[in-house]
Formats: sequence, structure tokens, C-alpha cells
Amino acid sequence: MRRTTRARLTALAVTPVLALGAGSAVHGQHSQTSEPPETTEPAEGTELAGGAGTCIPEGGIEAKDNYLIGMSQANKGEPWRQAMNDQIAAAAEEHPELEVVFADAAQDNAQQVADVENFLAQGIDLLIISPNEAAPLTDVVADACAQGVPVIVLDRKVDGDQFTMFIGADNVEIGRQAGVHAAEYCATGGFDQCNVIEIRGLEGSTPAQERGDGFREGLAENPAATIIASQNADWLREKAIPVSQAMFQANPDVNVVYTHNDPMTEAAIISAESAGLNLDDMLFIGIDALPTPDGGIQSVIDGRIDATYVYPTGGVQAIDFAVQILEDGVVPPDSVTLETQEVTADNAQEVMDSFTGGSPATESTGAEATETTGGDAMGTTPDVSETTEG
Ligand code: FRU
Repeated sequence: MRRTTRARLTALAVTPVLALGAGSAVHGQHSQTSEPPETTEPAEGTELAGGAGTCIPEGGIEAKDNYLIGMSQANKGEPWRQAMNDQIAAAAEEHPELEVVFADAAQDNAQQVADVENFLAQGIDLLIISPNEAAPLTDVVADACAQGVPVIVLDRKVDGDQFTMFIGADNVEIGRQAGVHAAEYCATGGFDQCNVIEIRGLEGSTPAQERGDGFREGLAENPAATIIASQNADWLREKAIPVSQAMFQANPDVNVVYTHNDPMTEAAIISAESAGLNLDDMLFIGIDALPTPDGGIQSVIDGRIDATYVYPTGGVQAIDFAVQILEDGVVPPDSVTLETQEVTADNAQEVMDSFTGGSPATESTGAEATETTGGDAMGTTPDVSETTEG
């Protein structure tokens, strides 16, 4: 048994401000001194961890001078995931006692299972994982848990409840807001029939399901709005180019294009242009809103994407909770819901400035913001809500 008793195991019932720790993020007009948000019910489909303290050994975590954290990333090839890793690295740098090792599964479930097994063999003290797909990663996460390694699941879920906590935004709600936006666009345009196409993320990943379900809920506000085609492009811009080309060829009369992330929206815009469609007559909706030169916010500012939604990575919060779990004997909430925000032409510059402090966006804006604003650009979410069960 490599663990000794730690005196203090505190069930955490903190305000988000405390949860984020001193110097943590302040995004946009929100401030750390704002009222703590109400604790909300978890999003539909949210699997809560199996009771407070799951995976934390009875008696607590062995006190050490240094801790090794394994960060298992689903696919570093995607800009949003690189931002998550950058934010984790930058947040961990504030804690010299932490070493974070990263693994990139390159969108391969078997590789990600092997990555986690490798971390466990290395004797990690805590696992952070953003799983590629839920079902294939569930068992290895449960194995880590069974070995007494606390697990923080980020952004995409696993099945069941064998992990310590989940941190992520509410994808059903993001999808719902996107659906309402599309429904209102169709109403304003006075369309009797408003044709919507959807380009989805990787089917076995929970955000794809949730963004799809939420969108349908929001879109239902306008019966004229109909999804006439829905295809999968696995979150990838490269895949979304041929997929969207084929969709426009089969359905030239499209009013709204909803894609599950901004890289796929950009692909759809390119395809629509090359198909000779009139982009001014179409609404393009994405998700992520990275505050980088190639990201969604700039795309809205430039008039390409019409609406996107800030999807925080949770990287800073993951490190903050890791410290609390490992060093402070804290039992974290089962689920932390990160704030999102709709970005349209009306507020895009303001949102960008809130991340960059008014300086031009850089590729590493997300990570830099950790230092310049005291928070991580995409993970900066004072309005988190927490739920604890058990
Ligand atoms: C990156 C990404 C993001 C998306 C998230 C959902 O892999 O596709 O663009 O918001 O994953 O998990």
C-alpha cells in the first residue's frame, strides 16, 4: 500500500470562486466577486461520479513532495485540444510540486487505453482524461479508479460512475441555444420551410450526442425549421470538407448549417463557396469560439461564422482541483459545469477582448491569458456550478 493516512478529508461545498482558487479566471464582464451561481441539476445525460470521493482511497492520499499527473488527450491534432493541453501546462507551472505528463491518442481509442495503462504503470498520482469516445475508455478509467488513482474526466464523458469528478460545459444547453438561434433566424427570414443541415462530431463522444439532442430541442421552437440532412465528420475539418461538399450537392437549397465545432463550420463555408452558394443567404453556426487568429471568435468578427459558443476546456479547473484533491485532502464535487457564451457579430469583439485584454489574438492566447488575466481564456469560467451526490 503506497498511501498513508492524511488527516483531513474535507467534503467540498465551495463556491465556484473558492473552487477555482485565488487568482483564478475572470472572464469578460464577470468577476470573482460576483455572486456564486446557483448549484444546478446536472445536464441531461450527465453521469455523475459514484459518490463524493470516488477513487480517493479510504484514509486519503499519501502526502508527498511531488506529484505525477497523467493527462490523456483524445487528439492533440485539433486546435481546441492543443489549447486544453497548453492551459493545463500553464496552470501546472504555477505548482512546482506537480509534474504533468501528456499523452496524445490521435483519436484512437485503443491508443488512449494504452496511454492510460502506461500512466498507471508509471505510478501516476492522478489521472486527467478527455476521452475520445465514452464506451471504449470506460473500463480503463474504472481500472485507474480501482487502483486508488483519482480521475478527473474533462469535456467528454465516460459511461458509468467510476471516476472522481467531471468538469465540462453543458453540451445539451449549448446545442439548445444553437437550435433556438437557428429557429429565430428562420422566423426572422419568414421562411415557410427552413432547411437545416447538421455536421456532427464523433458519434461515440458524448458532446456529439448532446449537441445534437439540444439542437433539436431548440430548433423545435420553429416548426418551419427542419433538419434535412445530418452527417458525421468526426469533429475534423479535413473530413468535413468532403462531407459538406456531398451534402450541398445533394441539398443545394440550404438555409442553416449547424456544425458541432468551428473547424467543421469553416470546412462547410469553404464547400458552400466552392459550390457557388450565396453565403449571405445562409446561417453558419459552430461551437468552440477559440480566441485565436484561426478560431471561431475571429471568424465571427470577419463575418464568416454567424454564431458560435464559447466551450471552455476546463484545463485550469482540472489543475486547480487536482491540487485540492492531492494536496489539500479535499473531496471535490462530482460534477462542475463550466460557463458558456453565445458569440455573434453583436459581441464578438467584446468577447475576444475579454480573452486577449485587447491585444491582437495569438495562437497561444488561451495559455497566455492564464498569466495575463489570471485565468485561462477558454477555461475561465467563474460561473461554474457544482453538484455533489452521495
Ligand atoms: C476537439 C473537439 C472540440 C469540441 C470538443 C468536444 O476534439 O472536437 O472542437 O468542442 O472536442 O469534445
